Amino acid sequence: MKRVLSGMQPSGQLTLGNYIGALKNFTELQHTHDCYFMVVDLHAITVPQEPAALREQSEAVAALYIAAGIDPSKANVFLQSHVRQHAELGWLFTTLTYMGELERMTQFKDKSAGKDSVGAGLFTYPSLMAADILLYNADLVPVGDDQKQHLELTRDLAHRFNQRFGDTYTIPEPYIPQVGARVMSLDDASNKMSKSNPNQGSFITMLDAPDVIRKKISRAVTDSGREVKFDPQNKPEVSNLISIYAQCSKKPVAEIEAMYDGQGYGPFKKDLAEQVVGLLEPIQERYRDIRASGELHSILREGAERASVQAEKMLRATKEKMGFLVL
Ligand code: TYM
Repeated sequence: MKRVLSGMQPSGQLTLGNYIGALKNFTELQHTHDCYFMVVDLHAITVPQEPAALREQSEAVAALYIAAGIDPSKANVFLQSHVRQHAELGWLFTTLTYMGELERMTQFKDKSAGKDSVGAGLFTYPSLMAADILLYNADLVPVGDDQKQHLELTRDLAHRFNQRFGDTYTIPEPYIPQVGARVMSLDDASNKMSKSNPNQGSFITMLDAPDVIRKKISRAVTDSGREVKFDPQNKPEVSNLISIYAQCSKKPVAEIEAMYDGQGYGPFKKDLAEQVVGLLEPIQERYRDIRASGELHSILREGAERASVQAEKMLRATKEKMGFLVL
């Protein structure tokens, strides 16, 4: 069985972009792959986090994984910080990564832009991400488009290690959806939808109440025309909304265009809001049940125990090859 690994940062509430770009694919891959889905809390602290919020968000992301359909008896669900091998292999890979490679990372450039002081962890973040993936010898990594560059670096580092120390690591492949790999912001379709955007109206979180979702979609920016047409070049905002509609309804884009032919944006936006509510409401209900059940900690403990066994094997093999005295 091929192996899948992916993770999400508990640095705020998960958005509809996180769901469409990645989480939805996690739930599909669990039926055919040996899966490892983490909450990457060690990555989240590369920017300052309030301790109580970090703890709450870590539980919330894990609960959302399960509420979205990940079955913890099929896939390993765990927190990155509960499997100590991540931090250790992360360090080993930091020493194999070149400064120039890290300097080229667009996520680092974006997140550090305009800041007076930037933590070193934000810079070395991609080496830890490579360690996350290689620690399980993952074949496939489901992510949104914005993680492509980090995945390429992971592949380069796996190659580098194999060449220097002998064949050890599988070269992982990204698994990026054809549609929905980059869900854009509702207030500006030149930015991706992101939980760190200060404008709350620019993103929909997976836990937004139905009326909040309706309000955000009714206020989403569109061009001054009235044609519901998928044309990312000339109509980026409407095209983004059509992509979201297509992902939520599982209808092809052409069918959506035909449904709203000649009707303008009003009815389209109204129905889109109901599609999003229809997708998220059952997830929110399951989320509340999971949080109330008190089962989350035991699920995370078991997930981490299973993951640690696998992680320890790769860490040991890596250390032996690098010349550490492994007793
Ligand atoms: P993070 O936490 O920023 O995002 C989690 C996942 O959601 C995807 N995503 C989106 N997809 C489509 N449209 C959007 N607007 C959108 N916003 C976010 C991301 O591409 C990602 O797949 N570095 C990673 C976390 C990570 C990781 C890993 C991922 C750490 N270690 C190992 C995979 C494997 C990150 O910051 O994702």
